[in-house]
Amino acid sequence: MRLLVTGAAGFIGSTYVRIAAAEHEVVVLDKLTYAGRPENLPEGTELIEGAIEDPAIVREAMAGCEAVVNFAAESHVDRSIDDQDAFARTHVIGTGTLLDAVRELGVQRYVQVSTDEVYGSIESGSFTETSPLDPSSPYSATKAAGDLLVSAHVETYGIDASIVRGSNNYGPRQYPEKLIPLIVLNALHNDSLPVYGDGRQVRNWLYVEDFCRGIHTVLARGRAGEAYNVGGPEECENLEVVKRVIELTGAEEGLIEYVTDRPGHDRRYSLSSEKLTAELGWEAQVHFDEGIEKTVSWYRDNEDWWAPIRSGEYREYYERQYGKALG
Ligand code: NAD
Ligand code: DAU
Repeated sequence: MRLLVTGAAGFIGSTYVRIAAAEHEVVVLDKLTYAGRPENLPEGTELIEGAIEDPAIVREAMAGCEAVVNFAAESHVDRSIDDQDAFARTHVIGTGTLLDAVRELGVQRYVQVSTDEVYGSIESGSFTETSPLDPSSPYSATKAAGDLLVSAHVETYGIDASIVRGSNNYGPRQYPEKLIPLIVLNALHNDSLPVYGDGRQVRNWLYVEDFCRGIHTVLARGRAGEAYNVGGPEECENLEVVKRVIELTGAEEGLIEYVTDRPGHDRRYSLSSEKLTAELGWEAQVHFDEGIEKTVSWYRDNEDWWAPIRSGEYREYYERQYGKALG
């Protein structure tokens, strides 16, 4: 079928395109923000530049498509704390614009890519799909609003749509504002390794290809109106992640710098993927030890990818975010 993948010039969407293109004809719609990089896409991918909140471009991109997978997002929590405007526009207005077009054009299937952050933080146990939404940051609040719009369109208009909620992804081509690529590149450059607060926050790490296989499974066989969690096989404290990267890069542990904590920082994320496993047979294939080695090797071998990023917009962002905090 012809499949529209939005936001696929980013980290996860560009991995997903590599899987989906083996079965489907893929067209990408992407606004090409700082995180959207055409070079992330496999050669020959059809790319339309535009925003998901633009009804005209959305209809142009969606014409002739049988299904849509929506990855388009502002994805960084710290940036949402500085300014939530683009987050609300993309996650709420953008998602609504896509859903209106799905209904009007009679597109058969829609998948919304969402996040475990919509459930908020959990002290013990794991979130299931029936856990209440309780987001903490402007990023997760606007993602939750997008999810609710999807459910409302299923109820009100009867479209065939599902939601997929993933835990923290890592792997190749992740923009270095996120913990793992930031720490890997700083370690390779002998730069400080900023750890927020006490570093004991827990994340449920998921290798990006595992997440993309989960999304693809839900596209093919998920039920309308249902959400599916896709959680990583391991939970890890941030400090353990940083120390593992130090081991793999041979950096000095003394590079670790504890900096002011993120406001409203969620302490622990944990997702149960039991529903996806029981109903659709998905299981994570890559464990953290293997995934982190592959990730560090990828960044070591792909300076051509990250060198232009580190010298561009990212530099200004980094100064703003860490300049005062780091010695
Ligand atoms: P990313 O920041 O790497 O990529 C986002 C992409 O969306 C970029 O190509 C950007 O140009 C595009 N985009 C942004 N606003 C747009 C707009 N208005 N219209 C069209 N395109 C737009 O993000 P990512 O980490 O690849 O995340 C992809 C999706 O997965 C997001 O919806 C995110 O919420 C979700 N998610 C991410 C993670 C994670 O750990 N990174 C985990 C679970 C879910
Ligand atoms: O859980 C899924 C979410 O994971 C996705 O929905 C988001 O798009 C994605 O950005 C990610 O959110 P987090 O806020 O968990 O990821 P981040 O990489 O920003 O931070 C991971 C943890 O590391 C978090 O506890 C904050 C901490 N951290 C992060 C950075 C950038 C640090 O200690 N130092 C840092 O410099």
